[in-house]
Amino acid sequence: MNKSEIEGREVLITGSSSGIGRAISEHLLELGARVVGIARDHKKFLPNTNMYTPYTVDVTELDELPRFIKKILSNHPNLNGFVANAGYGQFDGLENFSPSQISSYINTNLTSHVIITRLILPVLKTKKQGDIVFIGSEAALSGTKKATLYCATKFALRGFSQALREECADKNLRVGLVNPGMTKTPFFKNLSFSPGDDPLNTVHLDDIAGAVISIFLAKPGTVIEEVKLAPLKKVIKFD
Ligand SMILES: NC(=O)c1ccc[n+]([C@@H]2O[C@H](COP(=O)([O-])OP(=O)(O)OC[C@H]3O[C@@H](n4cnc5c(N)ncnc54)[C@H](OP(=O)(O)O)[C@@H]3O)[C@@H](O)[C@H]2O)c1
Repeated sequence: MNKSEIEGREVLITGSSSGIGRAISEHLLELGARVVGIARDHKKFLPNTNMYTPYTVDVTELDELPRFIKKILSNHPNLNGFVANAGYGQFDGLENFSPSQISSYINTNLTSHVIITRLILPVLKTKKQGDIVFIGSEAALSGTKKATLYCATKFALRGFSQALREECADKNLRVGLVNPGMTKTPFFKNLSFSPGDDPLNTVHLDDIAGAVISIFLAKPGTVIEEVKLAPLKKVIKFD
């Protein structure tokens, strides 16, 4: 990968403190991009470089979110990329979720991304080139047991990204979706299952970061619309 091609990019990433968002941040920084990271707890990942600017934001606080995002946009007028990644998984029968749990789940995995996109769109449209990448999931493509709400948010993100791509193409703004399968991250820490122990049971974080960076690096006329990454051998380990 040519380092100079990514230098000069400044990318806003939600959920930069851990797992997939952290890996994307690390790869972008390594290639010379500036990263603006959003999370609730940056103690988990705080690289010692002025190329990384962390902002402590809880994306479920929807009333406060526009104020935070506008502040970030005014502090970083050169932003030309956005990776919508923050999210979590909770897997159970629908009847086991309270209305407030349902709303918080949808706000984190879907509504926050829609609101931030709404706010960043006018800024990206003024740039010569801009990219928005949504981190979906294999669960954006097929429904599975105990995943009604997770699938609802990820399917919706997929529809949102497809429609947004059409809406933004004439402004040289590209929209991509990356759908990883099971990847070893703290995503599983409160769940009763996780990927199998064999490294062949998980998608590698480097490959997800690589897919996002490929979307940024595609030639101006190319849109990498959607990438699915699956583990070679699917094994789920139950506690
Ligand atoms: N791991 C997998 O197998 C897998 C597979 C497919 C898709 N995904 C998707 O990948 C994305 C990242 O997941 P991950 O595996 O990297 O999990 P992770 O390690 O738990 O990371 C989740 C990130 O989201 C942030 N976040 C969560 N709630 C937030 C909130 N209310 N406000 C601000 N930030 C919040 C977390 O930061 P703080 O906790 O510091 O706020 C953290 O940085 C999610 O959208 C997930 O659905 C994961």
